[in-house]
Amino acid sequence: MENWRRISSLVGLSLVVCFFLIKIPIDSSIKIPRKILLEVKDQEFSDVKLHTHHHQVVVDNGIVRVILSRPDGDVLQIEYNGITNLLEDHNKRENRGYWDVAWNQPDQGPKGAVERIAGTKFRIITNNKDQVELSFTRTWKVSSHESGSVPLNVDKRYIFRRGTSGYYTYSIFERLKGWPKVDLGYIRAAYKLKKDKFHYMALSDDKQRIMPTQKDREKSHALAYPEAVLLTNATNPTIRGEVDDKYQYSSDVKDTKVHGWISLDPPVGFWIITPSEEFRSGGPTKQELTSHVGPTALCVFMSAHYSGMDLEMKFKDGEPWKKVFGPIFVYINSVSHQNDYQKLWVDAKEKMLHEVDSWPYNFTESRDFPSVDQRGTVAGQLLVSDQYISKSLIRGRSAYVGLAAPGEVGSWQRESKGYQFWTQADDEGHFVIKNIRPGCYNLYAWVPGVIGDYKYDTMITIKPGLEVKLGAIVYAPPRHGPTLWEIGIPDRTAAEFYVPDPYPTLTNRLYNHSEKFRQYGLWDRYTDLYHDQDLVYTINVSDYRKDWFFAHLNRNINNGTCESTTWQIKFELVNVNKNVNYTFQLALASAHYAVVQVRFNDARAKPAHFSTGFIGRDNAIARHGIHGLYWLYSIDVKGNLLHEGNNTIYLRQAKSENYFQGVMYDYLRLEGPSEA
Ligand SMILES: *[C@@H]1O[C@H](CO)[C@@H](O)[C@H](O)[C@H]1NC(C)=O
Ligand SMILES: *[C@@H]1O[C@H](CO)[C@@H](O)[C@H](O)[C@H]1NC(C)=O
Ligand SMILES: *[C@@H]1O[C@H](CO)[C@@H](O)[C@H](O)[C@H]1NC(C)=O
Ligand SMILES: *[C@@H]1O[C@H](CO)[C@@H](O)[C@H](O)[C@H]1NC(C)=O
Ligand SMILES: *[C@@H]1O[C@H](CO)[C@@H](O)[C@H](O)[C@H]1NC(C)=O
Ligand SMILES: *[C@@H]1O[C@H](CO)[C@@H](O)[C@H](O)[C@H]1NC(C)=O
Ligand SMILES: *[C@@H]1O[C@H](CO)[C@@H](O)[C@H](O)[C@H]1NC(C)=O
Repeated sequence: MENWRRISSLVGLSLVVCFFLIKIPIDSSIKIPRKILLEVKDQEFSDVKLHTHHHQVVVDNGIVRVILSRPDGDVLQIEYNGITNLLEDHNKRENRGYWDVAWNQPDQGPKGAVERIAGTKFRIITNNKDQVELSFTRTWKVSSHESGSVPLNVDKRYIFRRGTSGYYTYSIFERLKGWPKVDLGYIRAAYKLKKDKFHYMALSDDKQRIMPTQKDREKSHALAYPEAVLLTNATNPTIRGEVDDKYQYSSDVKDTKVHGWISLDPPVGFWIITPSEEFRSGGPTKQELTSHVGPTALCVFMSAHYSGMDLEMKFKDGEPWKKVFGPIFVYINSVSHQNDYQKLWVDAKEKMLHEVDSWPYNFTESRDFPSVDQRGTVAGQLLVSDQYISKSLIRGRSAYVGLAAPGEVGSWQRESKGYQFWTQADDEGHFVIKNIRPGCYNLYAWVPGVIGDYKYDTMITIKPGLEVKLGAIVYAPPRHGPTLWEIGIPDRTAAEFYVPDPYPTLTNRLYNHSEKFRQYGLWDRYTDLYHDQDLVYTINVSDYRKDWFFAHLNRNINNGTCESTTWQIKFELVNVNKNVNYTFQLALASAHYAVVQVRFNDARAKPAHFSTGFIGRDNAIARHGIHGLYWLYSIDVKGNLLHEGNNTIYLRQAKSENYFQGVMYDYLRLEGPSEA
C-alpha cells in the first residue's frame, strides 16, 4: 500500500510536468519574456493573400509564404525569415511536405503499398484577408481499383491565418458503402526539412540533440535491422560512434503534443503541434514515431507500431467510415541570436499550450469538424474498491479516464477507427472530459498503481452542449484475497525494473541519464548477465529494481541461436490451505510472439498449470519501448499445488525463434485465499 501511494504520487507529478510543461530543466537560467516572438497587435499584420497558378497555389500572410502543388496539395515550399525554403528543395515535389497512407488489400498476399495522398481537385473554401482555407480532394472510383489505389476519399485541408506563424492542416478520410475491403497500416503527415539547415531535434525538455545526417547513416555500419546503424563515419566528430535508430525517438502520444527541429544558422524552429489526441488511435499510451534523421518531422495519426496488427484499421467489404485527422499546427519561429536557440523550444511549448487551450479550433470550415458548442462533456469521480487495501473507497488519483468506441473492457488500446477522448483525474479522482464529439461511447479508465481496466456499464450518449454527470463511479479491480507478495508497480510499463547499461560501443548518448531502456542492443544483455543460469527472484530478499530484468528474453547461445528461458520466483508460505484457490495476478506490459507458461513447484508439469497462449506482436523489445499493449491474467492456483515452506513459481517464455521475442512484465502478485 505504501508503494501504491508513493508511486501514484510520483506518476501524478511527472504527468503534471508532461502536460503543463512548467519546468524547463534544460537551461532554467534563461529568462524568457512572456511573449518573445512575433506577438504584436492584429492590425499590424498583413492580409492573407492567395495567388493561384496553373500548377501551384501560393499563400502569403507576411510571415510565411507557402507554395502548394495544384491539384495534389503537397507543400512544396515554406519561405520564412529570409530562408527561401524550410523544406528540402533538392527533393522531388512530392517528397517535401505530404500526407501518406500505408495500405494493403487483404487476401492479396503480403504486398503492401505506401501511397502519397494526391489531390485531383482543388477548391478554395475561404479566401478573405484574415483567413484562407484550401481543399485538395481525391475521390476513389471503382475504376481506379484496378490501378491499385487505396479505396478512400480524402479531403486535405490547409488553413492560413492573419498573424499566424505557420499553418494548420487536417484531412477528412472517408469510405463509402460498397467499397472493397482494405487494411490501413499507417496514416501520417510528413515533412522533409532542409538538410543543410536543420540538425538539432527536440522532442521534450530532456530529449534534444544534434542529429546525424542521412549521409552519415549511409556511410555507417548496419546493426541487427536496417533502422539501426552505428555511426562509424559521421561528418560531425561529436556524434561518431553512436547508434542511430528512429525508434529511439518514439513517444507515447500523450507526451507528444509538440516536437520538431531547429536550424542554428539562421536560428529557426520548425514544429509539429498536435493539440488534441481525439483523432489518434489506441488511447493516450499508444506510441508513435516523432522525428528522425532526414531531417524528417512526422505526425503519425495511426499505425501498428508498438501494438501490432491489432492497431491496423481493417475494413470489411462494404464498410463505410469517416474520420477527421487533425487539425495539427505547423508552427515556425525564430530568434535573432544563434546563442538563444533554446528559446525556440521554450516558445514552441508555450505555443503548444496556447493551441491546446484553443481546442477545438473555431476557424475550420469543414462541417465534419464540430465546433465547441456542438460537443459535449462527461464529468464524475472515479473511486477504487479494494477491501484488501482499504475498507473504505480509495480515490482514483491521477486515473486515466476516457471515452472510446463501445467495446470490451480495455478495448480502447486496440481501437483505431473512432475518436477517443481522454483526461487524467486529479488527486481525488475527479475528472472532466470536455469537447467530446456527439455519439455513443463507453467510458474506460485505469489507475496508475492499480491493476486492470475499468469500464462503466452503461453506454454514454454525447449530445451537443450537454454535460453528462456520472457522480461517483467505482472500479473494483481484480482481487480474490490478501497480497502474499508482489513484484513491481502496476503502471503498464516495465520502467521500474532493472534496465542494464548498454554496450559502451553501442550507445545513444541522449539516453545516458534517463530512459536507458531506449538504448540499442539491451536484449543481448540478458545473455551476458544470465549466461548459465536464468533469473531467480527471492521474495523478501531480492529487489525488483535491481534483480528483475526489464524483459523476459531468450538466451542467445554460442552457435547464434536462441533458447527459451525460465525464471523462478521463490517464496515461503507458513500455512497453506490445500482446499481453496490462491490467485496469481500476472500483468504484462508487452508481448511479442510469446507464450508464457506458468508452473507451480514443478518445473516439468505437462501441460503447464497455466499458459497465456501465443500472444503479442508489439515488437517493443526491438523498438526500445518500455511497454507495448497491456495484458492481465488472473490465474487460479489450486491450494494443493502450494507447499508449506518453500515454493517456486516457474515462468517460462516458450517461443525461441529470435532475440526480439519475449514479454515485459508490468506487475506480479500472489493473493491468498479469500478471507470472506
Ligand atoms: C568509413 O571510414 C573508414 C575509415 O575512415 C573507411 O575505411 C570506410 O570505407 C568508411 N566507410 C564507408 C561506408 O564510407
Ligand atoms: C475563437 O477561439 C479563440 C481562442 O479560443 C478566441 O479567442 C476567439 O474569441 C474565438 N472566436 C470566435 C469567433 O468565437
Ligand atoms: C554516454 O555514455 C557513453 C558510453 O558510456 C560515453 O562514451 C559518452 O561520453 C556519454 N555521453 C554523455 C553525454 O554523457
Ligand atoms: C546449439 O547449441 C546447443 C548447445 O549449446 C545445442 O543444444 C543445439 O542443438 C545447437 N543448435 C544448433 C542449431 O546447432
Ligand atoms: C516476507 O517478510 C515478511 C516480514 O518479515 C513476512 O511476514 C512474510 O511472510 C515474508 N513473505 C514471504 C513470502 O517470505
Ligand atoms: C479453483 O480454480 C479452478 C481452476 O480455475 C476452478 O475450476 C475451481 O472452480 C476453483 N475452485 C474454487 C473453490 O474456487
Ligand atoms: C527455504 O529455502 C531457504 C533458502 O532459499 C532455506 O534457507 C530454507 O531452509 C528453506 N526452508 C525450508 C523449510 O526448506
